[in-house]
Amino acid sequence: MSDRLIAAAIEAAQHAYAPYSDFHVGAALELDDGSIVTGANFENASYGMTLCAETVAIAKANSDGQLRKIVAIAVAGGPKGTALGADPITPCGRCRQIIKEVADLVDIDLPVHCAHEGGYVTYRLSELLPHGFGPASLG
Ligand code: THU
Repeated sequence: MSDRLIAAAIEAAQHAYAPYSDFHVGAALELDDGSIVTGANFENASYGMTLCAETVAIAKANSDGQLRKIVAIAVAGGPKGTALGADPITPCGRCRQIIKEVADLVDIDLPVHCAHEGGYVTYRLSELLPHGFGPASLG
C-alpha cells in the first residue's frame, strides 16, 4: 500500500498551483477502507496564505466526513519539472501540527511516507513532532 500511496502523492503534485515557488507538492492519505484522499499545494499572491498539500488533503478528508479513517500519509514533491528531490520531503512545521490533530483523533502514531528520487523514508509523527501540543495539552 505504501508504494500506491506514494504514487498517488506524486500524481497529486501534478495538480499543484505553485506559480510563485514553482515547488510542486502532493499528499495522499490512506483511509482504513483502502481508499485514498489526495491534495496539492495551493499558493496565493499573498504568499503567506499558501495552503500546503498535506493540509489540503486533510481538510478534504474532513469535508467528506472521513477524518477519522486516516491511517497513513504520503508526501511527494520537488521543483517544477523535477518529480522528486534527492532528499526526502518532510511536512513543514504547520502541517506536522495539523497531522498531530488527526493522529490524536485516530489514536495512531501516524506513519508519514516521505518520497525522494530513490524511494521513500517512513517517519512516525512522534519523530517529526516530538513533545507536540495536542488536544490532551488543553487539560
Ligand atoms: N509545501 C507543501 O505543500 N508541503 C510541505 O510540507 C512543505 C511545503 C509547499 C508550500 C509552498 O507552496 C511550496 O511547497 C514551497 O514552500
